[in-house]
Amino acid sequence: MNVLITGASGKLGSELVKTFLKRGDRVYGIGRKAGAENLASMAGNANFKYTACDVASWQESGETLKIIMKDFIPDIVLFCAGQAFDDIDAQGIKVAKTIENFDVNLFGILYWIEPLLPVFLKRGRGVFACVSSMSVFKENHARRIGYSASRAALNKLFENLRLEYLGSGVKFIVFNMGRMTDLKAALGITYVHAARKIANIVNLESVPNKTYNIPLSQYVATRITALVPDAWYVRFIRK
Ligand SMILES: NC(=O)c1ccc[n+]([C@@H]2O[C@H](COP(=O)([O-])OP(=O)(O)OC[C@H]3O[C@@H](n4cnc5c(N)ncnc54)[C@H](OP(=O)(O)O)[C@@H]3O)[C@@H](O)[C@H]2O)c1
Repeated sequence: MNVLITGASGKLGSELVKTFLKRGDRVYGIGRKAGAENLASMAGNANFKYTACDVASWQESGETLKIIMKDFIPDIVLFCAGQAFDDIDAQGIKVAKTIENFDVNLFGILYWIEPLLPVFLKRGRGVFACVSSMSVFKENHARRIGYSASRAALNKLFENLRLEYLGSGVKFIVFNMGRMTDLKAALGITYVHAARKIANIVNLESVPNKTYNIPLSQYVATRITALVPDAWYVRFIRK
């Protein structure tokens, strides 16, 4: 299968690239950087291509996709690019930073779905999968209002797309990720393990068209802590 992955130069993205390549898929990676250290070991792989693109730019995204589509029609698109800009400081809110969160985490995904959806609908198959965050249930970082808001909007947008195109063969899958770490930790999941879980779920033929929360243990903990009164939450849980 052909898998297009945004945020391929990042920690999760590069693990996803490796996992799909190992599975025998062809992978096209997108990152903001021209070259990525994380991907150096894949440089000679004939099944892998990488290009730099700022997904927050509608124009750049459209132009990049046109070049990619000349010899690579994706079956699966995994939106892994993301950015969490702090948008509160000692003076108050910084709307420009809030907008930057939405530009990358929400519109940076829609810019790719807009031109690709007609292609997938015509073929009657295709998977759009986005990496969102468990912070949609309760923000656990101080000084951030826009990141989880952009991810909550993304969840809703994918749910609406799923309902709209149900039965078309085109799927809209959401991965609400908990904390991801390089090494195994008490809370969360490693990048390697997360990439494997996502790759196992994303399968063109049989993937259930729905939202996943990974890892489940953190999802349960998050839903419980969301019930904690705000005053306690801010004092004891929020970082
Ligand atoms: N880490 C966590 O604990 C956690 C938890 C929940 C959800 N998430 C989400 O999981 C995803 C992966 O996280 P990660 O920890 O692997 O993050 P990361 O290492 O910081 O990687 C982020 C990726 O997004 C790319 N990116 C950011 N802005 C971009 C833009 N404007 N245009 C193109 N690419 C852009 C980066 O490209 P460059 O490297 O070239 O800048 C990089 O490839 C993100 O969407 C994040 O929001 C992470």
